[in-house]
Amino acid sequence: MSLLEMKGIKKNFGAVQALKGVDFQIEEGQVIGLLGDNGAGKSTLIKIIAGYYHQDDGVIKWEGKEIFCRTPAESRQMGIEVVYQDLALVNLLSVWRNFFLGREIETKKGIFKFLDKKKMIDISRKALQGLGIEIPNVNSAVAFLSGGQRQTIAVGRGVYFGAKLLVLDEPTAAVSLREVEAILQLIEEVSKRGIAVIFVAHNIYHVHRVAERFVILEQGIKVADVKKSDGYSAEDIMDIMLGRKQVK
Ligand SMILES: Nc1ncnc2c1ncn2[C@@H]1O[C@H](COP(=O)(O)OP(=O)(O)OP(=O)(O)O)[C@@H](O)[C@H]1O
Ligand SMILES: [Mg+2]
Repeated sequence: MSLLEMKGIKKNFGAVQALKGVDFQIEEGQVIGLLGDNGAGKSTLIKIIAGYYHQDDGVIKWEGKEIFCRTPAESRQMGIEVVYQDLALVNLLSVWRNFFLGREIETKKGIFKFLDKKKMIDISRKALQGLGIEIPNVNSAVAFLSGGQRQTIAVGRGVYFGAKLLVLDEPTAAVSLREVEAILQLIEEVSKRGIAVIFVAHNIYHVHRVAERFVILEQGIKVADVKKSDGYSAEDIMDIMLGRKQVK
């Protein structure tokens, strides 16, 4: 049984057929690189997984059971954590506030309820450290952090709250070289813990290092679904994307 199984997924935006009947599945703890040129349908597929869009046609199964219309919040509760490039965190709030956003820990004093700030600071610091994520101070506002750091905080939060599937839409785009390394290492660490990862990126070398399977979309159609263990190099993947090579 796959963690997530999608069959014949179609999605139109007016006259644009963004997805024309895509099959996609991912197993527990598996890292999949989702590739394709601009407009191929990657983000649309991810947004359907996130419950942000609903497919026009096709079936989605989560842990073997068919699932129907869900909100993004319901998807999250099921264990699907999507990290978008920019929208992951609230800039004006501190790291620990972002970490617990919508899931705050409260404490009671008599009839009054308070946010348990100390506990949340402590947990978020430890959870991020435990994943090897370096954030100088969890009290600083997210606005002062780099793009890469924000991504890792969003990932750390998902892991702490029990995500089974992490979806990262271009986490290494517009991020410095050192931070790319930190994000790739984090993906490896997360996968070791049995969490599945869908990693969308344009840089084939980033994807190739951490993913064990590659799914390539082209104009709303899946044109390849191959395993690294079958001997696909980064160059092979690039050649398939450019139409210079057929799937073996
Ligand atoms: N909300 C929308 N309204 C109308 N058209 C859309 C919408 N979202 C996506 N599309 C169209 O659907 C197609 C697939 O877009 P999508 O964003 O899924 O591609 P992508 O593979 O993520 O591309 P990129 O690499 O540029 O992020 C494109 O033709 C796009 O213009
Ligand atoms: Mg996209």
